[in-house]
Amino acid sequence: MKLIIANWKLNPSTLKEAQELASSVPKKSKNKVVLCPPTIFLSQIKYPFLGAQDCFWEEKGPYTGQTSVLQLRSLGVKYCLIGHSENRALGETDKQINAKIRVLIRHKIEPVLCVGFGTKKNDSLSVIKKILLSQIKKAMGGIGKRRLVIAYEPVWAISRGLGTGRPADPAHAAEIAGFIRSKIANAAVLYGGSLDAKNARGFAARKIIAGGLVGGVSLRPAEFLKIVEAFNN
Ligand code: PGA
Repeated sequence: MKLIIANWKLNPSTLKEAQELASSVPKKSKNKVVLCPPTIFLSQIKYPFLGAQDCFWEEKGPYTGQTSVLQLRSLGVKYCLIGHSENRALGETDKQINAKIRVLIRHKIEPVLCVGFGTKKNDSLSVIKKILLSQIKKAMGGIGKRRLVIAYEPVWAISRGLGTGRPADPAHAAEIAGFIRSKIANAAVLYGGSLDAKNARGFAARKIIAGGLVGGVSLRPAEFLKIVEAFNN
């Protein structure tokens, strides 16, 4: 079974639209589909597997505007994206990422560690591997040999909006997934970055890729469904 995660980012703008979007994604699939709506809508969306897009590293206290894992857990949230490049670009550090992962694990919410920020399309494989390994090691500090879901999202491949970016080559994503698995044997490695209905099959065909993290296209249910179906095989 593959894991397909829909990252709605800061969309849509109203609760009504969010509920309509969620209800248009089929609830039954051969794969596990996780919806990550904006935090504010989490309590109002009905879907078997819900994820948050981020969380705070402290459980409670004087932290204005933050969301704690205890709050997420009380809503039945099962997954949480951590280290997304859009958050790293806003200044999120490896230390914060590690602290978030630790508190998520403590409260039995599955972290989905995103790596790939800081890589460039023309970087050599060895440079990319070095960047990724450093991000993974820092993120996993102190958590032992636990299974971890890691999303390889080369930052240059992420679309700006509705899936109009250029994805990585599936062979490249598979090579990186193999590399990550060679370092962390029990990692499940997803690919993310401009996945769409057309290109998903190429990634799905690589057995080493455990699923996808979908941004822009997850806002278009019919196309998103085709990505989910592509990973059925
Ligand atoms: P994208 O986003 O599918 O729109 O490229 C993926 C992500 O940022 O998680």
